[in-house]
Amino acid sequence: MHMTEGNIARKVKKLINKPDEFFADSPHSALQRFGALLKRGAPTVASYVSRAASPTSAHANDGQGASTSSASSQAQHQDRRIENARSAEYADDARKLAGFAVALAATDYPFASEGVVMGQPSYRSIGLEFLRYFIKWGELSPEDDVLDVGCGGGRMAAAIGYYLSPSASYVGFDVHRGSINWCLDNISTRWPNFRFDHYAIGNSRYNPRGALKAESFAFPYADATFSFAIATSLFTHLTRQEVRQYLAEIARVLRHGGRLFSTAFLMTPAAEAAARHGTPTIKFEHQFGENPVQSLEQPMAAVAQHESVFFADVTEAGLVIDRIAYGWWSGLRTSNGMQDIIVLRKP
Ligand SMILES: C[S@@+](CC[C@H](N)C(=O)[O-])C[C@H]1O[C@@H](n2cnc3c(N)ncnc32)[C@H](O)[C@@H]1O
Repeated sequence: MHMTEGNIARKVKKLINKPDEFFADSPHSALQRFGALLKRGAPTVASYVSRAASPTSAHANDGQGASTSSASSQAQHQDRRIENARSAEYADDARKLAGFAVALAATDYPFASEGVVMGQPSYRSIGLEFLRYFIKWGELSPEDDVLDVGCGGGRMAAAIGYYLSPSASYVGFDVHRGSINWCLDNISTRWPNFRFDHYAIGNSRYNPRGALKAESFAFPYADATFSFAIATSLFTHLTRQEVRQYLAEIARVLRHGGRLFSTAFLMTPAAEAAARHGTPTIKFEHQFGENPVQSLEQPMAAVAQHESVFFADVTEAGLVIDRIAYGWWSGLRTSNGMQDIIVLRKP
């Protein structure tokens, strides 16, 4: 079917103004539908969205200079004020989703493949799915200074690149040298405000020869450097003592009001019951130190955290819980993602 510019613009408007309706089905199928739509008119969509999202579109006509000398000019002034209020509201929503839609429209989206952590066919769709969660649940703004802990092959960075202002900053670090090199070559070259650091921290799954210990690793960043931190699929590969240290370090480098968007496998009575009676995606049948793990041969491949212990560590770090969305890893019936999502805040 041939899509006219008007049709595409209407679809984009719906994505921007009614994202919940647009994504009422599973995010993946909505993304696929939208992706297919955008392939037909990517440049139009990108320019439409950036126009809609431009701050000047909301304030270009601020009523300054309107004469109040006649009834008609007063009415005009009133009209303009209403129009401005509407467009400011619209532009705000548009800004929130603009990077997301532009990333969907991009035909040259960075794409990590084999040899890079998470270099899988789902690299782009999951990155974009999470960009949406970061914005909606973590209140990620284009002006945030972001720290991505265990950034791997930049799956989140690739999506965020389309959203973050050039004046904001992103720092990702990881223990996997090859992934960091790939990110430097493919992401920092495109967005110079994106930096990637490698640290030789040991992890039996991702960096078996690393000499530094995660449970005592002090992040080499100053206090209160960042306003948004990410730890997606990281606590699922760390022991409890490592998670405890990382929570404390993340809290230290976050500013007040900063958020941590994290995912984990949280062991709760409900998850245990679901795993017993349903069809769990991952079974944690073994104990490795303080953590339930999937396999004793490769314990760090999939690690669960006891929810009560995790929450105690969150409190000890000085963070508070903003939101939890349990995933379907345990067999719980939910349309959230596979892992549990936990958004924390530094008050
Ligand atoms: C499943 S991957 C997730 C990567 C990325 N966060 C994403 O969502 O695409 C887990 C990542 O955690 C990294 N990692 C493991 N132990 C780490 C540690 N102690 N500190 C930082 N990163 C670590 C691994 O190298 C790997 O890149």
